[in-house]
Amino acid sequence: MEKWIDREEKTLLNTYNRMPLVVSHGKGCYLYDDSGKKYLDMFSGLAVNALGHCHPELVGEGKKQLEKYLHISNFFYCKQAIALGEDLISRSFPGKVFFTNSGTEGVEAAIKYLYKIGKQKGRRGIVSLRGSFHGRTLGALGLTKIPSVSRDFPVIDYPVYEISRESLKELETLFENERPVGIILEPVSGSGGIEVLSREEMTGISHLCKKYDVVLCLDEIQTGIGRTGKFFAYQHYDVVPDIVIFAKGAGGGNPLGGMLVHKDMDGYFLPGDHGTTFGPGPLSAAMGRKVLEIIDEDFLADVAVKSRLLLEGLEKLQEKFPESLGAIRGMGLMIGIDLKIDPSRLKEDILEEQVLVNITAKNVLRLLPPLIIREVEIQEFLKALENVLKKTESSFIPD
Ligand SMILES: Cc1ncc(COP(=O)(O)O)c(C=O)c1O
Repeated sequence: MEKWIDREEKTLLNTYNRMPLVVSHGKGCYLYDDSGKKYLDMFSGLAVNALGHCHPELVGEGKKQLEKYLHISNFFYCKQAIALGEDLISRSFPGKVFFTNSGTEGVEAAIKYLYKIGKQKGRRGIVSLRGSFHGRTLGALGLTKIPSVSRDFPVIDYPVYEISRESLKELETLFENERPVGIILEPVSGSGGIEVLSREEMTGISHLCKKYDVVLCLDEIQTGIGRTGKFFAYQHYDVVPDIVIFAKGAGGGNPLGGMLVHKDMDGYFLPGDHGTTFGPGPLSAAMGRKVLEIIDEDFLADVAVKSRLLLEGLEKLQEKFPESLGAIRGMGLMIGIDLKIDPSRLKEDILEEQVLVNITAKNVLRLLPPLIIREVEIQEFLKALENVLKKTESSFIPD
């Protein structure tokens, strides 16, 4: 393991704080290191491996596509892309799709789309929620005002109105005075600590968007493709957005993202306005179709059952270890727990239990397990967390 860590230090730019794990392979909900040790993966590549590692049907689909072609460029018609577009539309709303290779590129596409709408309507600017994460390219960074991510970098010259959840009451005044073209929101904030927009907040925002002709654009990069127990998280609310951005779980581990534009908003991009060499790679599109086929209504109902199991287990632990665990929030299998103990220590201790977790927003334990997780693996995780909390509380020094 050390050999690889050493080689990486000499070779790759240091932009990530990696965990000390050199991965050999994955299977289902587990990753294996190069010494053969098995780890329960409770963040599934940050919500990408929704179907776990090496799902046999996905592997089969990938192999079939590999034998056809891997790239043809956007100069030709790609059956897989067209069919995937149709599948996505059938799972959301009537409209059209633009494919990208990542989430941040989906956000860039949406910014450009909003810009074009604004040009025709004589409007400028986008509203975003404080603490949101929308990606790291320079356009998306304008909406990602998390200082550790955005400081030191320029942003595009485009007004961004940041509003906090606490001051949503002021949204109407902002819409009235500034006349922005759109608002971009995460229904559940991924990197912002798993803050869930309430039904009241979401329907309130949607209502104001309609009243002031503001485009409602949802960043469902993390919440989409079944993560919250519905295909898209907006389906938990009584709203239909104008634009939805997706990525992460869409390609079954392959780079795939994009934006879905409601039919009422169609027509603002013309040939040449936007493009990308790879989006969507035929392999990603083929695997994306299989992902959508597997994540059907029964599968989604099962996500909701597993979410309840995990939440119930966490609530019991929270009652047992109130000095260590604070509030629990989430939707489906996107769950955050406020930690009252040192998050780095918890991450290290649970790694010793052979469980992989992620920490976000400084002290929030973010759980994004593969959606295929079974009860036995949920219990394995809860047991490991309990062991760690017992160990931590036994080392508390009383005042
Ligand atoms: C809500 C949200 N938006 C945008 C992004 C950026 O996506 P990507 O890393 O694929 O560019 C992420 C990634 O974590 C995300 O969670």
